[in-house]
Amino acid sequence: MLAIEHPIIKAPMAGGIDTAELIIAVNNAGGMGFIGAAYNTGEQIRAISRQIVAQTERPFGINLFPPEKQAPRPEKTALALEAVSPFYRELSLPLPQLEPCKGFDFDRQIEATLESGASVLSFTFGVMPKDVMAAARERGMLLIGSATTVAEALALEAAGVDAVVAQGSEGGGHRATFLGDPQASQIGSMALIPQVVDVLNIPVIASGGIMDGRGVAAALALGAAAAQLGTAFIPCPESGASAVYKEALLAANEDQTVVTKAFSGKPARGVRNRFIDSLEQQPEAILPFPYQNELTRGMRIAAGKAGKPEYLSLWAGQGLRSTRQLGAGELTAQLIREYRAAARRLSRYGQGDS
Ligand SMILES: Cc1cc2nc3c(=O)[nH]c(=O)nc-3n(C[C@H](O)[C@H](O)[C@H](O)COP(=O)(O)O)c2cc1C
Repeated sequence: MLAIEHPIIKAPMAGGIDTAELIIAVNNAGGMGFIGAAYNTGEQIRAISRQIVAQTERPFGINLFPPEKQAPRPEKTALALEAVSPFYRELSLPLPQLEPCKGFDFDRQIEATLESGASVLSFTFGVMPKDVMAAARERGMLLIGSATTVAEALALEAAGVDAVVAQGSEGGGHRATFLGDPQASQIGSMALIPQVVDVLNIPVIASGGIMDGRGVAAALALGAAAAQLGTAFIPCPESGASAVYKEALLAANEDQTVVTKAFSGKPARGVRNRFIDSLEQQPEAILPFPYQNELTRGMRIAAGKAGKPEYLSLWAGQGLRSTRQLGAGELTAQLIREYRAAARRLSRYGQGDS
């Protein structure tokens, strides 16, 4: 359906990781790259798409967030400001003000996406508006939504998507949860994928904790049609992640991540650091999304530039110990070799009559 050679997708990762070079390298090695474009302007989406189209004829996807009804501006912000202020002081930054949230120019993002040459529009945090889905279809684009429970997968299928990403709780970055209780919706990939596969009539893409070809083979064994990997690609030289972020991931292990609302107000998995530990001790000081995201933005930008991982959102999944620093094309080729080797190893269990 996706017209790719191998069932390997580089996950969309909004926030500057997804460069054109990263996507081109994965595509040219036989996988498929997605641009996490939710924080990009229409112009930025056009620019990166132009670069990709100029350098590869292979299909790529764009990922956006459906527009969300914004939570009302919180009245009590003193606690939240107090909780982040020490970190701003340590970085010699002026204390943050809670500015009105600008939000994303969704209409421009969609306009640019429809004209980008991408063959897929994928999304997370809900269902795209009907008119957007219809417009994408008219352009011949496929639609892919993200689910963390069977109920969400069914809701996406009912809305008319072509495939569903089943995001297990091992995965890095924001949880895609949009229907159930976020805590109860933390289902591991091993349990989630087959349960989603069993109820859907459309293909399922496995995501969360897949770091090598064994993981890809496992996802296929569980009934998925493809595997989507995020964390594995962050340390690649083509990725736009800062050097300090890459180093932190390469040094961290499987027991060092937590799901936290500390940085954005929405649950996301990342490497534990001093900022998370401090905010987790005062959860009442964390504002809802997007206000918390705005509140920590200045700190995150400065910390990235200053190379200070203790103040950065180091989004990553539980597969951390398996991160490798390879070029994205070489990593994709390695994943292909590994899942083929895993399939060969497993084929001996398929012999015999009973
Ligand atoms: C840094 C980062 C940013 C992410 N941004 C997005 C995003 O913009 N859209 C999306 O659908 N998923 C996003 N994800 C989630 C991935 O699509 C995927 O579900 C996850 O990375 C899979 O788990 P893994 O990291 O263990 O491979 C992000 C993940 C990471 C690590």
